Parts: sequence; C-alpha cells; structure tokens
Amino acid sequence: MSDFDYLDKKNIYLDSACQTLRPQQVIDMMDEYYHEYNSCGGRVKYNWGIKLDEKIKETRKKVLNFVGKSSSKYTVAFTLNTTYGLNLVLNQLPPKFKKIITSDIEHNSVFLPTMTIAKRLGIPRIVLQRSVDGSLVYDKNDLSESVAVLNSMSNIDGRELVNLKEIANDLHKTGGIVLIDAAQGISHNQKIIQESDFDALFFSGHKMYGPSIGVIVIKKTLLAILDIGFIGGGMVEEVESDTYKLISDPDDLNSRLEIGLQNFAGIIGLSASINWIKNYQQEGVTTQAYQEKLLRFLFDELSNIPNIKLINSSPSSIVSFYSDKIDAHRLAIFLSAQNIMVRSGYFCCHYYLKNLKKYPPLVRVSLGLNNTKEQVDFFVKTLQTIMTNL
Ligand SMILES: Cc1ncc(COP(=O)(O)O)c(C=O)c1O
Repeated sequence: MSDFDYLDKKNIYLDSACQTLRPQQVIDMMDEYYHEYNSCGGRVKYNWGIKLDEKIKETRKKVLNFVGKSSSKYTVAFTLNTTYGLNLVLNQLPPKFKKIITSDIEHNSVFLPTMTIAKRLGIPRIVLQRSVDGSLVYDKNDLSESVAVLNSMSNIDGRELVNLKEIANDLHKTGGIVLIDAAQGISHNQKIIQESDFDALFFSGHKMYGPSIGVIVIKKTLLAILDIGFIGGGMVEEVESDTYKLISDPDDLNSRLEIGLQNFAGIIGLSASINWIKNYQQEGVTTQAYQEKLLRFLFDELSNIPNIKLINSSPSSIVSFYSDKIDAHRLAIFLSAQNIMVRSGYFCCHYYLKNLKKYPPLVRVSLGLNNTKEQVDFFVKTLQTIMTNL
C-alpha cells in the first residue's frame, strides 16, 4: 500500500524538482477543509472559522519547527509561491542597503528580481560564483551592508549552499541580511537552513509534497522595517479617509505579507505534507537513507552511459545532463513515449546554463520520495537503449 496508489503504475514521474506528487494524506486533508469547515480565516466568529484559525496557527508553528526557528524571533506568512514571496519582500525593502549580492547559479526567480530591485534602489548588484561543492565564493568586504539572495540548493544539480551559516554571520556583522531561496532545499536538507541565522526564507508547498502555496519565514525585525506597499484586506487596525494603521500585534505581523483572503485549503494541506515528510519511510528505512542509495545508483548508472555528459560532479536527487548525439527535448519526448517524465531545457537558469556555461538544452531527472529502485532502473535501461540506437 503506497501513499501514491491513486496513480497509474505505468507512469514514472521524475520531475519532482518542478513539482512533487501529493500523497493521499495531503489530498485528504484539503478535502476535509472543503467538506467540513470551508470558511474564511482570521475574521469570523462562527465554529468553522474558529477551527480553521486553530489549524492555521498550528501550521505556522509546524513550519517554524521544521526550519528550526522560534516564534519569538520569526513569523510565517503564506503566499502564492517562492517567486511571489521573494518579489514581495524584495520590492518592499527599505532604501538602507548598499548592494545586492546574488550568485551565478540562481533560478530566474532570484536572478531577475535582484536585477529589478537593484535598479529600483539605485544600488549595485554583484553576481558571485558558487563552487562545485555549492559554497559561495566571497570576500568578507563584498558583503558589507548588502542584501544577499541565494538558493540553499540548486535546481540544476542539487549543489547546496554549504557555507550559508558563515555567510549569514559575515553579513550580519556589517549590517547586511540574507534571504534564502529554499524552493529545492526545503524538502532535501533542512539542516543547512536550521543551522543558519537567515533573515528570510522562501519556499513552495508544491515542491515538498504539499499544495500549491508559497511560504515566507521572516525575522520580525526585518518585517517591521519593510516599506509595506502591497496592501488591502486583512492587514489593518484602523482606517481613516487618507490614512491607515497596520495590525501591530506581534503575533499577527504575518498579516503584513498576507494580502486579502488566503489559500486556506493550501495552508491545511501544507501541514499534512510536513507531517508526511517527517514520518514517511520506504522499505522500513528512513527516507534519507533510502534516497541516498537511490541517488547514488542513478548517478553511477548515468556516469556509465556513453555520450551522456553529466553536469553533476556528485550524486544528488537532481541530476542534469546533455548529449551531443541528441537534442534534450527530443530525448525527453522519446522517454515520454515509455511513460517516463523528465524535464528538458534550461530549467529557468538561463544565465548559468546558456550564457555562462554555453550548454545546449539539458535533460533533468529529479527524484522524489515516491520513486523506487525499479523505476530508476527502468529509466536508466530505457535511456541506454535509446542512446545505443541513435
Ligand atoms: C531553486 C528554485 N528557486 C525558485 C523556484 C521557483 O519556485 P516557484 O515556481 O514555486 O515560485 C524554483 C522552481 O523550480 C527553484 O527550483
């Protein structure tokens, strides 16, 4: 009995980096909201709404616990997705920072907004390198009074920001802040995140076995200095003809980033996905141990196929490659004919892959906790057959 039994077994989904599948428990939890207490959060006095408010509160606590932070220092706001959250906070930064720092291997969701924000604030934007081990290469002087926006895990080859803790410490010493794109990292490595003193963290429920929803975990001190300009229902204490006063209750500061009615079923489903990630086991071993074995197998097998050029220098649940013998999109179509779903293209990392590295479009295989050894084996064998018949 699997939590994904509703799927047709012939399908092999290898695109979890884009969007993970949803375990039955997450779908059930969202259905429960729709069927049993479909109401508005944060504003009603009837029973359904009170039950919903309790569950939303519980989800915020669960998120904080998941990323190892306390409610005395941080708050959790829900939004559309990682991209929206990043834009929301970046667009409301006060004009006190001197530079924007990012890296060459960022998703367009970071790479592009850091351009527009630097322009808007009239400050320089610096693009630093990331080593093959994922660490940011920097000089402490690079960081003074700056806003650094970096991913904790790349969506190309899974490399991780292994020096995040030091980056955050170095930034704070000079009045800077660090904003973390954890879209990939959140479901793979919470430790890097938990151990760092980040100022804000952004991720998407749909990349962690949850519903389509965005999450912002932000320091209350940063939230308090944002220049709130995206404004509307659910955010104010008082309104006069030309002025308003934002909600100031320290336990409700999240309202400053939650404009209008929220995706309540999504918030409820997210809570179920956190439970699921924490408790899921495959073949009696922890997900981490199971995944390590599977991703090593994938990496070793791909490394042995002639004419496949791997981008990864080490195993990861996200592996990208290209071949001079066949276009990546054609290869993805051939694989799809065998019900294998992989991504092809530049995965929203155009600068790094196309401009900097001059790679052709790539194929990306990304494993989820639902994938089995048999599925990876079938994928590898199918790829081998395609490559030998070219
Ligand atoms: C590293 C990284 N950052 C940001 C994003 C954007 O996430 P979303 O589309 O959920 O906003 C993605 C999506 O693939 C990603 O992989």
